[in-house]
Amino acid sequence: CGIIGVIGTRPAAPRLLEALGRLEYRGYDSAGIATLVNGRIERRRAEGKLGNLSAVLERMPLSGTTGIGHTRWATHGAPTEGNAHPHGTARVSVVHNGIIENHAELRAELEAAGQEFSTETDTETVAQLIDLNLRHGMDPVDAASAAFRRLEGAYALAMVFAGHADLIVGAQHGAPLAVGFGEDEMFVGSDALALAPFTRRIAYMRDGDWTVINRSSARFLDAKGNHVARDVKLTKLTGAAIGKGNFRHFMEKELHEHPVVIGDTLRRMVDPSTRGIALPELPFDFARIPRITISACGSAFYAGLTGRWWFEAIARIPTDGDVASEFRYRTPPLPDGGLGLLVSQSGETADTLAALRYMREQGQHVLSIVNVPESSMARESEAVLETMAGPEIGVASTKAFTAQLVVLACLALAAARARGTIGAAEEAALTGALLEVPGRAADVLEKDEALQAIAARLVQARDVLYLGRGNCFPIALEGALKLKEISYIHAEGYAAGEMKHGPIALIDPTVPVIAVAPSGPLFEKTASNLQEAAARGGQVIVFSDAAGAAKLKGIATETVVLPDVDPFVAPILYAVPMQLLAYLVAVLKGTDVDQPRNLAKSVTVE
Ligand code: G6P
Repeated sequence: CGIIGVIGTRPAAPRLLEALGRLEYRGYDSAGIATLVNGRIERRRAEGKLGNLSAVLERMPLSGTTGIGHTRWATHGAPTEGNAHPHGTARVSVVHNGIIENHAELRAELEAAGQEFSTETDTETVAQLIDLNLRHGMDPVDAASAAFRRLEGAYALAMVFAGHADLIVGAQHGAPLAVGFGEDEMFVGSDALALAPFTRRIAYMRDGDWTVINRSSARFLDAKGNHVARDVKLTKLTGAAIGKGNFRHFMEKELHEHPVVIGDTLRRMVDPSTRGIALPELPFDFARIPRITISACGSAFYAGLTGRWWFEAIARIPTDGDVASEFRYRTPPLPDGGLGLLVSQSGETADTLAALRYMREQGQHVLSIVNVPESSMARESEAVLETMAGPEIGVASTKAFTAQLVVLACLALAAARARGTIGAAEEAALTGALLEVPGRAADVLEKDEALQAIAARLVQARDVLYLGRGNCFPIALEGALKLKEISYIHAEGYAAGEMKHGPIALIDPTVPVIAVAPSGPLFEKTASNLQEAAARGGQVIVFSDAAGAAKLKGIATETVVLPDVDPFVAPILYAVPMQLLAYLVAVLKGTDVDQPRNLAKSVTVE
């Protein structure tokens, strides 16, 4: 979910709406704003995308120069207008990210005290708690701070109070909130991106902090109520509008940015004169790292799994990886001085952030690979490597994924050098292979036509199986995830050799089997697994290079011939047609490609 708040001298509603547009990537189930109109709290809310809220505001405009806004990704309660934020009473209005874990207990207590609830949401509990304190005669700041002490869970909050046009109170506890300093106006927002068009002067709060803001200043207090100083930094983000150009969707545009993004990310990691890997200095020595632990969610996790393969194969470092939502509760013992590696486009995913904190507690060096350099993960890590993907607007990750792969490949090469597991000649050859990827990726993007024919086949399917092996197994997982996310067709990614232990039972002529099968050491093994699928009447759709395609000619229903590349970099290149194929299927199905149902770009709740 996304939070925004403004106190100033200009009309608040248009600015809140503009900021919500920049926050829509965090959820688009519903949106709402509340402003202070002649001392009274007035709000407008709408189910669905922001466009619906704009339409409501056109019919029923909101005046006032102080207000808060929210865009929601539903957790508690259905995505209806009634459940849309802000929530509150006549005295206080609240927007909230995260979850109040003890809301049921608080609700019972508040109802017993005579508070009348109008929704089932955990957010309303916060408003009712503050409302009760106000009824008991506390002033707004005391009422809020007393309420914060009762809340359990992970949350960010912003609120306005009736009769107090020069006041916003905000709090951060496990979900981020930033405060923006303008000229005679102040802002709060769930990230700097929301605030970028208004101001570049940002103060990040720390967990447990809360803030009292008026038109000209902000005070920060810690959990104990002590005044604390929080630095105001100049963000690098700009308010520049992000457009689709001539593309139909952001996702299509972002897919076409693969070559540039891969190139930009490589340029950060490869020394142009020596063509050797040249990473920024890291606060640990790979030669002394006993183990790497990788954690992430969604596509970023699949990038991490590919990284695991590289670290083990090239740098010979024991490496483990798990999705963050499992990892954080598995309480795995981690060796002293190990490396914890987090991968995230947004740098805000709640589960990955919790995994990061666990790794720190376990004495790991913590390195994050993120696309947003000012994100929570970046700020809490010992070291950060940035993917140079630029803003990614389509909810399904595309260019950020290949950029993550590039960083991981370069990191594995740096580790291999530090540990002496590869020689200079091999390093040069593998770096050379990486440097060829942008050009090859551009060639792949021209394969639209071949992919279009396959998309027409897939759009009919109910289930699709994606198979891969070795460093391309995660690419099969990514292909399947992308298809599910944006076309709503059921797809499974499987290790090709594992198919015979279950999914082979699914195979019949209606189930397309997509093979991610570049030439390389495991090609023959994959080929025999594909043979098993073909023998059972499966439609085998092969993605391989010319040599591989020739070998699979007898069993493939369709073949997409991709450029020859070193097997080391094949996962990066093969990710491109997997994502493009999912996109083409989604377009044929007519789904909402950039904002698929039920998903959010950045999941800041557990
Ligand atoms: C969401 C998105 C996925 C993304 C995942 C991790 O679920 O829909 O596309 O891979 O979050 O996001 P992150 O920002 O941590 O990479």
